Amino acid sequence: MATNRGSFSSKAGFILAAAGSAVGLGNIWKFPFEVANGGGAAFVIMYLIFCFLLCFPVMVTEIAIGRKTQKNPVGAFIALGFPKWSFLGKIGILAGILILSFYNVVAGWAFGYFIQISFGNFEIGGQFNEYINNIGRVGLYGIIFMIATAFVVSKGISGGVERASKILMPTLVGIIVLLVIYSLTLPHAFEGISYYLVPQFSEINFSVIYNALGQAFFSLSLGMGALITYGSYVSKQDNIISSAAMITVADAGIAFLAGLMMFPFAAYISSGAVETVQGGPGLIFTVLPGAFESIGPVLGRIVGGLFFLLLSFAALTSTISLLEVPVTYAVDELNIQRSHAVWVIALFIFMMGVPSLISNGDSHFFTNFITYFGAENPTNFLDFVQHIGSDTLLPLGGFLMTVFAAYVWKKHNLNKEIEEGFPAFKGTLIEKYIDFAVSYLCPAILGIIFLLTVLSRFFGVEIF
Ligand code: PHE
Repeated sequence: MATNRGSFSSKAGFILAAAGSAVGLGNIWKFPFEVANGGGAAFVIMYLIFCFLLCFPVMVTEIAIGRKTQKNPVGAFIALGFPKWSFLGKIGILAGILILSFYNVVAGWAFGYFIQISFGNFEIGGQFNEYINNIGRVGLYGIIFMIATAFVVSKGISGGVERASKILMPTLVGIIVLLVIYSLTLPHAFEGISYYLVPQFSEINFSVIYNALGQAFFSLSLGMGALITYGSYVSKQDNIISSAAMITVADAGIAFLAGLMMFPFAAYISSGAVETVQGGPGLIFTVLPGAFESIGPVLGRIVGGLFFLLLSFAALTSTISLLEVPVTYAVDELNIQRSHAVWVIALFIFMMGVPSLISNGDSHFFTNFITYFGAENPTNFLDFVQHIGSDTLLPLGGFLMTVFAAYVWKKHNLNKEIEEGFPAFKGTLIEKYIDFAVSYLCPAILGIIFLLTVLSRFFGVEIF
């Protein structure tokens, strides 16, 4: 059955694909406004601490489970001899499907903006609400995006996922570096950068802290088995520790560059008054087009077009990894051919995303989908799916994953897998740290964050 699942052709191929999964809308769309809401550099510092101290051990664990078993997230727990734990893989697959269903909608918006701005339609910024409610149009962009994702995944691991990442990731880095350099030349760039890089520790409160953790977790694609899946295609000769370190550095590095690019733009639009710029998820879609327009008709199209192309590419390498999870499951466990599984699953997830697509005003029902306990305003379907799929299920998955590795599968087995490809691992400081983190630090912090998120988000109970 497991005859020809495919594999990454090189360590670099795996790192690029996993970094592609990590680098996405989370880095470029969400990170800058989380920073703005959370005290500038104070948030950045917390985010980096979470990435390296807490998320990195979880990433190593996920990759090790995948590589040890060469299986999808459900099959992996069965292959390790703990079939009862396969529910954790199922939660992960569910989370991945939920995330992809809304992620594809936002990715479609970004792709549509790339086309609009490239053709010089800068007015789109002021018409964002009409734009996302033009269901025929954004629906079409969403379909195109899902087809591109499915096309890559249908070509398999080395011929599809790895190949696409090898093209998209270097291009993405090139574009972001160009845009950072350009944005630093704008008037008021300095005010933007100092807003970004001077920490305001007084802004930090508990919700900022757990936003930073949630952001780090989502951004590194953890807690849902994406890295178990990618890890299952990794060679036994590869060093998991150095791969995970490079993926983490790449992800945090791109998020950092995204901030360096966005804050000068925000300062430019507001003539230096960054704090007055409208924050929130609409920032990129409503405010930036105006900034591009004022750069000039031709240069504005180029800079703006490149910006939304960057966003689309970043999103694409992430949607690829999100689709790969259920596809690998279907190939391994249900014995379905990859080329068939891909299109059926992609269609299914696209359909699941339709309520999210129409939940920004078009459908009254999905726009006012649910009102949480203690909340004044209803939450729309897209946000609801995001709250369940990423904010709730990912920390839960991370918590259970580390509990499993430390107390069920056991640390010496995890170590043994890491030692393949890194024989000198035993006795190193990093071994001791991962031991401590996986056994105590991660389960404790992720467990607490999970509980507090559920209480505050859905029940309006703020303990801190
Ligand atoms: N890491 C991606 C981002 O930052 C999102 C993602 C989450 C992708 C989980 C795969 C799995 O946008």
